[in-house]
Amino acid sequence: MTNIIDGNRIAQEIRNEIKAKTERLKLDTAGIVPGLAVMLVGDDPASKIYVKRKENACNEVGFYSREYKFPADTDEKTVLATIDALNQDAAIHGILVQLPLPGHINPAHIIEAIDPAKDVDGFHPVNIGRLLTGQTCHMACTPKGIMELLDRSGIKIEGKEAVIVGRSNIVGKPLFLMLLARNATVTVCHTKTKDLAEVTRRADILIAAAGKAEMIRGDMVREGAVVIDVGINRLGDGRLVGDVAFAEVSPRSSHITPVPGGVGPMTIAMLLGNTLNAAMVGAQTD
Ligand code: GUN
Repeated sequence: MTNIIDGNRIAQEIRNEIKAKTERLKLDTAGIVPGLAVMLVGDDPASKIYVKRKENACNEVGFYSREYKFPADTDEKTVLATIDALNQDAAIHGILVQLPLPGHINPAHIIEAIDPAKDVDGFHPVNIGRLLTGQTCHMACTPKGIMELLDRSGIKIEGKEAVIVGRSNIVGKPLFLMLLARNATVTVCHTKTKDLAEVTRRADILIAAAGKAEMIRGDMVREGAVVIDVGINRLGDGRLVGDVAFAEVSPRSSHITPVPGGVGPMTIAMLLGNTLNAAMVGAQTD
């Protein structure tokens, strides 16, 4: 029997927990409300949808949120000046700059300008370095959400063969570190991997994060594997599919995430969690 991992249900459960903790924080600190600033440069339609979802999620759990929208031709200096102001702003505990940015803006300059304590995306080199060395830090939301899905579905990680397809800074690389920290044996595959199917067939836990529609076929998956699909791809006929060919792979897997409704909702839930943590740490040191 295949278990379909319900990301919508698990993310809702986490948002409920965050809402309760937010109310508690407000009472315990005489009024601290977690604050998230979201910045969007340009008008990429997918990014606009994500930013709207983040705002709605903030409202649901009782956070304060602020949105900054800049036209696509905004120069880097203007974005950096806004980040600088938000770094100093006591009402803001988390700063998120929606990626991708227009080509004339260097994302490394933007990410490195954010105070690591407010970098709720976990993209700043300080947070990545802390993750690498096993220190407390903000962790990137999508891979953190995957770890949470595995844990809340009762899937053991220690000693397992985990195979990640995709090596992005946002998903593949930080997920590698998180799985390794939990004592999995982790392999990261990419476009130059010689025999991809041979590697993916070794996986007890297979994570597809390559951004290529339905590239993981049935014969690439070991019987009984846990399959996590990070992909969101729009096909020519308008259908939304993951990086996993769901109809072929699901009968072989013990657990699988659907698209949509798997990993996607977890990313925003983790963003809220990181923002709450930032506010709680701030409350201890203020
Ligand atoms: N674009 C796609 N995913 C993400 C994310 O997790 N954070 C930000 N800032 N931009 C993204």
